[in-house]
Parts: sequence; C-alpha cells; structure tokens
Amino acid sequence: MLVRPTARFDTVCIHAGQTPDPSTGAIITPIYQTSTYVQDALGVHKGYEYGRTHNPTRAALEGNIAAIEGGRAAFAFASGLAATGALMTLLQAGDHVVVTDNTYGGTYRLFERVLRKAQLDFSYVDTSDLDALEAAFQPNTKLLFVESPTNPVLRITDIKAASERAHARGVPVVVDNTFASPYVQRPLSLGADMVLHSTTKFLNGHSDGIGGIVVAERDDHIEWLRFIQNAEGAILGPMDAWLVLRGTKTLPLRMERHNANAQRIAEFLSAHPKVALVHYPGLPSHPQHALAARQMRGFGGLISFTMGSLERARTVLNSVRLMALAESLGGVETLISYPASMTHGSVPAERRQALGVTDDLVRVSVGVEHVDDLIEDLAQALDRV
Ligand SMILES: Cc1ncc(COP(=O)(O)O)c(C=O)c1O
Repeated sequence: MLVRPTARFDTVCIHAGQTPDPSTGAIITPIYQTSTYVQDALGVHKGYEYGRTHNPTRAALEGNIAAIEGGRAAFAFASGLAATGALMTLLQAGDHVVVTDNTYGGTYRLFERVLRKAQLDFSYVDTSDLDALEAAFQPNTKLLFVESPTNPVLRITDIKAASERAHARGVPVVVDNTFASPYVQRPLSLGADMVLHSTTKFLNGHSDGIGGIVVAERDDHIEWLRFIQNAEGAILGPMDAWLVLRGTKTLPLRMERHNANAQRIAEFLSAHPKVALVHYPGLPSHPQHALAARQMRGFGGLISFTMGSLERARTVLNSVRLMALAESLGGVETLISYPASMTHGSVPAERRQALGVTDDLVRVSVGVEHVDDLIEDLAQALDRV
C-alpha cells in the first residue's frame, strides 16, 4: 500500500511502515517470532541476520510510529523506561539535563537512582515557566527533557517556545509524548528533536503489552539509537510490536472518543459539590487552557481531581464499579488510580506535595466506553462520600 507524502494522519496510522506480506499477501504484518535468519551463503542474506538486531515486525512498527510522529526513524524498546534509558545513553558523565519537574515517577527514579551513578546531573524545573527554564540551563546542559501534559496534574509546557530556548544554547529537546499521544500533539512539528513514548499507553491502547519507542530526526541521534538498541539489546519483542501495530490503526478513532469523554467527565466533576479541584487542560479554569488549545488537538484522556482528604478519595476509589482501580493509562477501558502511592510511590513524600500529588488526588484515565455509563459510575461513587 502506497502512503503518499500528502496522506492524512488517519491514513498514515493505518498504513505507514507496512506492506502486504510478500510471500502470502497477508494484509497484516506477520509476527516474525524468530531468533535468527537462514543465510543463502556465507555473507549472503536478505538483510536479516539476528533477532536482536533486526526483526520485520518491529521494523514495521518503527516505520509506522516514525511516520505518525513525523520523524525520520524510530527505535522500539521493551518498555517506556527501557526507551528512556537507551535515549539517555546519548549523554556521558558530567552532562547535565533539565527535566520537567513533575515528570513520571519512574523516570525520576531512573534519573535519580540509576543515572546519577553514571555521573549525570539533573535539574527539575517547572518547564511551563519559561523564565525558570531559562535559569536552569548550565554550561554543561546537554538535554532538555520535557513531559507535557505532566502526570498527574496535567501542566502544559509550550513546546515550541521551550525548544527555541534550548536550541539557542545548542541543547537538543526530547518530549515524552505518552500522555498526549501523537493524535493530540506532535512535538517534532513544534521544534523538538526527539519524541519518547511508553507504547504501553495510548499507542497500544488495549492494555495488553508493555513497550517503548524513541522517534528521532537528527542523523547523530538516529545513528546512536540504532547502535544502542543492538548494543544494549533492550528490544521490543515481535508479539508486542505486533500488538502496538494493531493499536495504532485505530489511534485517531480512539483519541477522538478519549478526548470527548474526558471533556464531559471533567465538566461533570468540576460542577460536583463534593469535588474540590479538577485538573484538565480542556477546562477554562486550567491555568494553561489557551496554550493547550493552541498546542493540542483536543485535551487528552487524563483527568485528575482532589477530594479534600485521603478518606474521601479512598471512598471514591473503592466505590466505583465500572471504572477499574489500576495503574497505567491510555487503554480503551477507564482506569482510576491514586497517584500518591501508585504512579508516584517512588517519589519522596515532600516532593510529591510540592508537585501537587497530594494525598487526596485521584486520577482517571478515561476510556472509550459510553460516557453516560462512566458519569453514572462516578456519580454513585461520589454519593457515598
Ligand atoms: C509519561 C510516562 N512516561 C514513561 C512511562 C514508562 O513507561 P513503561 O511503564 O512502559 O516503562 C510511563 C508509565 O506509566 C509514563 O506514564
């Protein structure tokens, strides 16, 4: 199938990176569950030698997501954190990284507990504040690591402005685009140099695989990421690559519904007398609503809200029936979670407080069920408070 350069986003999602299987015509890229490839003669092969280095299912996924994000190449890894770890090997001892302050807890743990041992240095700043960002750069800053919207309080960084500030100092920019998904936001088109995803979330969309991917533009980044994918070997397996390829075909359809459902639920929650505060970029009360409207297509599927006390939050979490109490996000089914002990359990308590990850905060990853069923479920849970 030919995907013309002018093809629209929805068409790219379905077809990019994939051609019908040459031996059978199968329209779906097969799961090449193989560790090695038979060579015709010594040094004569079809471009595939060993499964860590090359796999056709993984290559199809990488081509697909590179096109979806508008990048030149992509490299798939065993998890979002494996992708982050591989990306960080672009740096070396003595380098400094500016990081969005309320980045995902696992990213913070990787940076603080693992990469500090390799003499990397990190400054965590509110990258939505461009003056704070400006002040955080050091002569040895070698990367700006942005997460927008942030998890779980959904702060937004102006990716274009932040990229300009970084580039003025020769600092490349990576955006963790997991929370938004490329339907909602395409950081490379806003000036970022690399995009990172936990494919576990919206790209897969069906809560049945763990994976990660880095999309890159620059030759030096591409060359190193290709090298490290093979050299460290934290690759995405063919079955998991296939599951994500299945997922990206319906990304636009799912995201439209995630966006619409989340908007309705955020409005319901913000009008509810038992809810203290709702964080959702689609609400005019969100401090960066105008920026979100400019930078994003819809406002995403994540909402968080405060209940006033741990006990009240616990009642909601324990009373929902349709929503599942579980970690993770981005699947077709709605998940409800408690960031303080779930996603941010690895972040020290005083730091959690400073970031707004308070003990009464509840997060919802809004799925694609009928929105009235979701609102009825929340309403009956809030009635118990
Ligand atoms: C924003 C963000 N980045 C990265 C990760 C890590 O991804 P994984 O769990 O696939 O390692 C997560 C996981 O929740 C996340 O929410």
